Amino acid sequence: MRTQVGIIGAGPAGLMLAHLLHRAGVDTVVLERRGREHVRRRVRAGVLEHSTVELLRAAGLGGRLDREGMPHHGLSLRFDRADHRIPLTDLTGRSITVYGQQEVVKDLIDAREAAGASILFDVDEVSVHDPAGDRPRVTFTDAGGTARTLACDVVAGCDGFHGVSRTAFPPGALRTYRREYPFAWLGILARTPPSHHELIYAYSDRGFALHSMRSPEITRLYLQVPADERIEDWPDDRIWDELAVRLAVDGFDLRSGPVLEKGLTSVRSVVTEPMRYGRLLLAGDAAHIVPPTGAKGMNLAVADALDLSRALVPFLSRRSTELLDGYSERRLHRVWRAEHFSWWMTSMLHRFPDGDPFEHRLQLAQLRYTVSSVAAATSLAENYVGLPYDHS
Ligand code: FAD
Ligand code: DHB
Repeated sequence: MRTQVGIIGAGPAGLMLAHLLHRAGVDTVVLERRGREHVRRRVRAGVLEHSTVELLRAAGLGGRLDREGMPHHGLSLRFDRADHRIPLTDLTGRSITVYGQQEVVKDLIDAREAAGASILFDVDEVSVHDPAGDRPRVTFTDAGGTARTLACDVVAGCDGFHGVSRTAFPPGALRTYRREYPFAWLGILARTPPSHHELIYAYSDRGFALHSMRSPEITRLYLQVPADERIEDWPDDRIWDELAVRLAVDGFDLRSGPVLEKGLTSVRSVVTEPMRYGRLLLAGDAAHIVPPTGAKGMNLAVADALDLSRALVPFLSRRSTELLDGYSERRLHRVWRAEHFSWWMTSMLHRFPDGDPFEHRLQLAQLRYTVSSVAAATSLAENYVGLPYDHS
C-alpha cells in the first residue's frame, strides 16, 4: 500500500488532519486500532473553543454542529457557597460551544466515508519504520489479521497518549516533561436536563465538581476523586449524593436521572518535545496531555491538525520545508500556554489531599480575585474561549 500521509489514530487529531488534507487534494490512509463503533461511541470532552467551531464550519463540518451545539457566553465559578459568573463573551467578544467530542468524531468519520476515503479500523501491531529517511513505512496487521506495509511520504502520529508513534523516535531524541496530580475525575453522563443553563466549576470543602451538559436532555457531571479510586466503589446513589453536596448553593436543585455512562479520567500534564523527527510528526495527545480542567485537550488536538495540514501541503506539492520545519516550535508555544492554563485551573479548583490550610487560603484568594477583578476575569475568559489561531 502507498499513500502520501499515513495517519495513525482516528481521534480528533488524526481525523481532522485527514479531513483537511483530503480537502487540499492530499491522499491519506488512517489506521485505527479500535473498532468503528467503539470510536464513534467513546464519551470524552465536550467544550469547543471559538476558533475550533470556526475551523469546523470552514471545513464544511458546521451542519449538525450549528443545529445541535449549544453556544455558551459565560460560566460559573462556584465557591463560598455562591455563584460567580464569568461573562466570557462580554469580556472577549468570543464564545464556546458545548458539543461532544464523540459528535465531532462522528461528523469527521461520516465526512470521510462520504468522500469515499478509507479508515482502516481494528488494525493491530502498528509500527513506524525509518522516520528519518525519505520513505517512512508503517507496518500493521489489518482487521483480517493480514500483515501489511504502508509506504508514505510522511507519517502523522495521532495515536493518543498510549500510542506507538513516540516509540519510533530514537533514544534521546524526545524529552518529556510531566506533572502528576493526586486525584482523578469521575465523569457521568445522565439522562436528565441540565440543572443550570451554563457550566459550573465548583470548589468545595469536599473537592472539585463540574456541571456540564450535552443537550437539553443530557447532563455531564464530574467529581474529583482520589487518583487510585475504583469505579466499583461509586454506585450511582453515592455519585448523586456527593455531587449534591459539592454543588450546593441556595436555590440550586441538582436534577438526577438514569446514569448512561460512567468512567474515570486521570489528571496529568505531559509534554514531549520536539513534535517531529524527520518525516514523523506528532499531533494531539500523542505529544501532550493537559489535565481536563479548562477543556483544552481536544481543542489542542484539532489546532495541531490544522497547523500540520498547512505545513504539509507545500511540503508534499513542492518540497518546501519552511512551514514544516517550524511546526514543532509553533505548536509547542501554544501547547505550553494551554498547559499553563490547565495547570492553573486545576491548582485553583481542586482540594489537595494533604489538606494544607495555607494552600486552601491561597486558592480562595485567587478565586475571589479572579471573579472580582475585570483584568483577572478577562485573563481566565480569553484562555477559556481560546486564543485566536495564528494565521501565519
Ligand atoms: P485520541 O482521541 O486519544 O485518539 C487517538 C486514537 O488513536 C484513538 O482512536 C486510539 O484508539 C488510536 N490508537 C492508539 N494507539 C494506536 C495504535 N497503536 N495504532 C492505531 N491507532 C491507535 N479533554 C477535555 O478537554 N475534557 C474532558 O472531559 C476529557 N475527558 C477525557 C476522558 C478520557 C477517558 C480521555 C482518554 C481523554 C479525555 N480528554 C478530555 C482529553 C481529550 O479527549 C483528548 O485531548 C483528545 O481525545 C485528543 O485527541 P487525539 O486525537 O490526540 O487523541
Ligand atoms: C467538559 C469537560 C471538561 O474537561 C471541562 O473543563 C468542561 C466541560 C465536558 O465534558 O462537558
